[in-house]
Amino acid sequence: MLLFAAFLPVVSASAISSLFGLNTLAFLRGKYIGTASEAVNIQNATSFGKAYGALATSLEFGIYTNENNLKWEVTEPQPGVFNFTPAEKLFAIAEKTGKRMRGHTLAWHSQLAPWVEASNFTADELKAVLKRHILTEVGHFRGRVYAWDVVNEAFNDDGTFRESVWFTTLGEEYIELAFRWARQADPHAKLYINDFNFESISPKTDAAVALIKKLKAKGVPIDGVGAQSHLIVGSVPTDFKAALQRFADLGVDVALTELDIRGDLPETPEKLQQQAKDFRTAIDACLGVKRCVGVTLWQFTDALSWIPGVFPTQGFGTPLSDKLQKKPAYTAIRDALLLGH
Ligand SMILES: *[C@@H]1O[C@H](CO)[C@@H](O)[C@H](O)[C@H]1NC(C)=O
Ligand SMILES: *[C@@H]1O[C@H](CO)[C@@H](O)[C@H](O)[C@H]1NC(C)=O
Repeated sequence: MLLFAAFLPVVSASAISSLFGLNTLAFLRGKYIGTASEAVNIQNATSFGKAYGALATSLEFGIYTNENNLKWEVTEPQPGVFNFTPAEKLFAIAEKTGKRMRGHTLAWHSQLAPWVEASNFTADELKAVLKRHILTEVGHFRGRVYAWDVVNEAFNDDGTFRESVWFTTLGEEYIELAFRWARQADPHAKLYINDFNFESISPKTDAAVALIKKLKAKGVPIDGVGAQSHLIVGSVPTDFKAALQRFADLGVDVALTELDIRGDLPETPEKLQQQAKDFRTAIDACLGVKRCVGVTLWQFTDALSWIPGVFPTQGFGTPLSDKLQKKPAYTAIRDALLLGH
């Protein structure tokens, strides 16, 4: 980028990024860099926790996503009993430190309160349950959320709809209803459909494109597509940018909403170099698409990543080590923002 190229010879890239942070560099490119986190991570009193909190609240990040505390099992653990207290703590930190919030998530099959499936609701009952949940949760945070992941992981990889309780009880209509209720509850929040494997051209993204066209034709308020971007070292799709552009061409924003790039253990210097290239590819994909609004990391240190818990033979998926040291991936993100695409 010319702006930076002009003074790079006299000021090093690492000096620039430690002064300004990744989000500031992204802002100069019209994008954001965010992270998933929780208040309990940021307000952890250990020395690691203090260093983590300083980074999380610094100019490295401009937007947060609650990693878990806005999921149904936390926000409505019993029918009609809502709990926004844990999520609110991250909102409070965001508001104090000048960061925006993404809301994650409303209609999803996983981390759902068990009563929703166990009650064997009829279609009319389940519709009322989903409506109450969305109107209450989105209404509670009205005006404080930049974007909601309204519908999460609706598709199978073959492009059919996932057989969630939502789909099997309500059919495809649950998607349209969820978006309409979210808009009713907060007219200013951007409303997203979010999924994994949205990072390439595939039967899954063919189906998502067809759905979004249909929703837009019916006047359903959908504003964005979230590509979760839980990727694997050495296997980042080569058509990542093309896949994002195809969504953007439908007239919606796109975002990388949960970026991490995990590798097979053990971690080696070679794998960390490949991971850096892969992060660069991901950031470049967003930079190359005008309607890509930004990138959220799914935690920024290996110490707090979900990966080892779910993929026991894999790890090291984030740009900072478990000691909060910057890995080559961090430098790659910085360089992409300074110089990329
Ligand atoms: C607090 O920090 C310790 C390391 O000092 C870490 O093991 C723990 O996971 C952290 N807790 C939270 C909730 O982030
Ligand atoms: C729901 O249906 C399942 C399977 O038919 C049954 O075992 C269960 O008892 C039912 N639950 C309620 C709350 O009716």
